[in-house]
Amino acid sequence: MIGFDKDPAALQRARERLTKPPAELASDWPKIELVHTSFAELAQHAAAASVDGLLADLGVSSMQLENAARGFSFQADGPLDMRMNPHSGLTAEQVVNRFDERELADAIYEFGEERRSRRIARAIARARPIYTTAHLADVISAAARPMNQAERRIHPATRTFQAIRILVNRELEDVRELLSRDVASRVLKACGRLVIISFHSLEDRIVKDALRDGARDGLYRLLTKKPVVAEEEEIERNPRSRSAKLRAAERT
Ligand SMILES: C[S@@+](CC[C@H](N)C(=O)[O-])C[C@H]1O[C@@H](n2cnc3c(N)ncnc32)[C@H](O)[C@@H]1O
Repeated sequence: MIGFDKDPAALQRARERLTKPPAELASDWPKIELVHTSFAELAQHAAAASVDGLLADLGVSSMQLENAARGFSFQADGPLDMRMNPHSGLTAEQVVNRFDERELADAIYEFGEERRSRRIARAIARARPIYTTAHLADVISAAARPMNQAERRIHPATRTFQAIRILVNRELEDVRELLSRDVASRVLKACGRLVIISFHSLEDRIVKDALRDGARDGLYRLLTKKPVVAEEEEIERNPRSRSAKLRAAERT
């Protein structure tokens, strides 16, 4: 089994959990390799037609969201970081303070699907420098007051935080690369399975389109016509499963 994560803390946790198999599984425990890199690099770690199953659980983890020091959440004050890999890449603070207003507005619109992107980007540019998640959330909330009941249901900073996080972590590029012909369909064996769990519509669209195109070209047989979603009971137990969509396909 090969596990990938950009976040060394997630790998460390997996290492602790996986080194000691439960007694009843000990005789059947695989050799485990944990790799600190993007899953987009999968083809460099697995030979062509060698993989029985590929499961990608996309996005951020609760462990990341709930650690204020990682800067992912507008609900807890922390430094504006948002990097899944804290050792490399642009931080959210660099994006917020260095991007020009127009670039910022475009990113908030594209990756946050936020209609009020221009207004929010203007407010951010005027409030610079911004160093903390709470300051950024306040600036956004003041600029984008909810206009109706539907908007009142989500925090005004939700979409902008999502956009900055996606940009910082190159999330959509990585999913596109994973699902490209050079990676997923190349490494999977015949009848190997591809299972992807996404958490927002931008990711899900990429997954849906890649599987549909792969099926059209004879690379996959779709196993899910519609995405599998959590049932009420699971959502009650784990509210973050509310937005999860699972799609699966089998390599032909
Ligand atoms: C939804 S969480 C998975 C949580 C884990 N499956 C669990 O149940 O505890 C997503 C994880 O994927 C990692 N991640 C997101 N995009 C990645 C990428 N392109 N390459 C490697 N890891 C990535 C994040 O750092 C995070 O730890």
